[in-house]
Amino acid sequence: MNFKRHTVTAALPYANGPVHIGHLAGCYLPADIYVRYLRSKGEDVKFICGSDEHGVPITIKAKKEGVTPQQVVDKYNKIMGDAFKEFGVSFDIYSRTSSPTHHATASEFFKTLYDKGVFQEEVTEQYFDEKANQFLADRYIIGTCPKCANENAYGDQCEKCGTSLNPTDLINPRSTLSGEKPVLKKTKNWFLPLDKMQPQIEAFIESHKDWKTNVYGQCKSWLNAGLQPRAMTRDLDWGVKVPVDGADGKVLYVWFDAPIGYISATKDLTPDWAKYWKDKETKLVHFIGKDNIVFHCIIFPAMLMAEGSYILPENVPANEFLNLEGDKISTSRNWAVWLHEYLLEFKDKQDVLRYTLCANAPESKDNDFTWKDFQAKNNNELVAILGNFVNRTLVLTHKYYGGKVPEAAEYTKSDVLLLEEISKYPSKIAASIEQYRFREALSELMNLARLGNKYLADNEPWTLIKTDEKRVQTIMNLSLQISANLAVLMEPFLPFTSKKLGEMLNLNPAFRWNDATRTDLLLTGHQINAAALLFDKIEDAAIDAQIQKLADSKKMNEAQNKTVEPAKAETSFDDFSKMDIRVGTILEAERVPKTEKLLKLKIDTGIDQRTVVSGIAEYYKPEDIIGQQVSILVNLAPRKIKGIESQGMILMAENNAGELSFVAPTKSNMNNGGGIR
Ligand code: MF3
Ligand code: ZN
Repeated sequence: MNFKRHTVTAALPYANGPVHIGHLAGCYLPADIYVRYLRSKGEDVKFICGSDEHGVPITIKAKKEGVTPQQVVDKYNKIMGDAFKEFGVSFDIYSRTSSPTHHATASEFFKTLYDKGVFQEEVTEQYFDEKANQFLADRYIIGTCPKCANENAYGDQCEKCGTSLNPTDLINPRSTLSGEKPVLKKTKNWFLPLDKMQPQIEAFIESHKDWKTNVYGQCKSWLNAGLQPRAMTRDLDWGVKVPVDGADGKVLYVWFDAPIGYISATKDLTPDWAKYWKDKETKLVHFIGKDNIVFHCIIFPAMLMAEGSYILPENVPANEFLNLEGDKISTSRNWAVWLHEYLLEFKDKQDVLRYTLCANAPESKDNDFTWKDFQAKNNNELVAILGNFVNRTLVLTHKYYGGKVPEAAEYTKSDVLLLEEISKYPSKIAASIEQYRFREALSELMNLARLGNKYLADNEPWTLIKTDEKRVQTIMNLSLQISANLAVLMEPFLPFTSKKLGEMLNLNPAFRWNDATRTDLLLTGHQINAAALLFDKIEDAAIDAQIQKLADSKKMNEAQNKTVEPAKAETSFDDFSKMDIRVGTILEAERVPKTEKLLKLKIDTGIDQRTVVSGIAEYYKPEDIIGQQVSILVNLAPRKIKGIESQGMILMAENNAGELSFVAPTKSNMNNGGGIR
């Protein structure tokens, strides 16, 4: 079926933290490439996103930061919206679910289902935290997943195996508010009878065997397990109020209101919104990450079916997850590359990140982002292939022809083959994009640049210029045409570079995807502008700094998570005052042979000079501590360590990060001597 228009959505991210590369790679970048491609094809498309501002993730964040939920969403809605814009993610609207339009739309949607008698009204026992005086929905409760035994599954979903859960499914449930074991308490909620709707939902999924295998497979597994009724309301106070009588203190389930946010955002965008949601000739596509599959493939479609006047998604191309340097990206562990920080260090290199993330997109399995690979992709692909080809072409055009496009007088047999080859690229790349295979599409784009490079290398215009000027004109003309086609075809992937190249070529900005099948985008005599490098090399130092930054964040984290030893048993003042502590000075220090940790020290205690063996060799070099003042316990019974008699012990203090320092007198207590006061 041919569609007249497209509605493309990207998951509404929770407004509770900045955007990182995992967000970009998993959802927003592929969606943006898809939409930019459709626009270039001249399609009618609306690209919809905004922030998800309800739900427990928001209220938990507010509590942590000691501010109101409204303050949290105001802050992050702006930060996130700006980050997307800066990376060229070209939403037609970035809205938010706290908007009045959204509250009205979600409310009305619920009311429609309610009036149609779709919901099952049920009083059930739900977990309640008596200490916090609150029902524990969704992420307010964690426990062991009944499917995969993950001990930290949430009340609505296990993030390890992806299963959607109810709080009462959890084994050994705990409140995330107080850590307490919750009690059960009766409350009324409205349930969507997914069990009764199973046949319809099944038919819908079965009509989409073309979906990505990870998506179709997950849907099948839920259907096989049998769908359960799911509460669409919550006993919480942050969210869209439940618009029926007898529902005080209740809000809509965040996964009920959030996807309706796509509709509200479209309303905010255009008065024509209905045709993007209700006309059968509109193709609706949801871009999401894999943890959102059940909500977009089963629950939201069930809501839309029950309402009755909406179209259903044609595809839900969900990606798997992107890892970072071999470890799961995590906000709380600060194991992430944040978009706003990236730009501080790699100014104007948005496209390099877009390129790397697309080339590495976790399309069919989880994938890894590493800084070394990022550097390699920049240096060996963007610089060495794409940048190199374009640069050679432009520089030679300026050198030989003052920047005027030379005439292609006569094509050789190999030129004709090349022309034919070039004209196939738009449809090749398009086919991959339309099947949501963005990695493949990008690698085809690079093949076009490779083709150009090879053409220059094979024909060597820089040598021929001495003997066959006419031939060189044709070679340069063709190289320029390839550059122009690249500028058009790279736009969805590398929009910033496309613009730069377009300006350098002085290319008519009206050219679109289908024009790139032609090989006369630049007419003979057309004047091009000055050449500048499209990409430059990224040096080791910049990459090492990023790797170091991650290492630091790992160290910080380990320090924070290190369990602090509980205090030892009480000791009496008498016992404590038996210890004789003096201030001494280290006179000599040397490593104890064949040990990693031990130093042999000679210390002037003020009473005498003595030998002490101390386990600080991992922290201090012998030559650095000569003359260091230390506190020394002088009446500890001597003992032999590695055959050396140690006569006392120096006192060290350890901080949370496990780093040692000397307990030494400072200037202000210098003259008071040692001992205990
Ligand atoms: N906020 C959800 C998440 O980050 C996604 C919501 S998508 C929507 O996982 F459909 F509900 F909007
Ligand atoms: Zn699980």
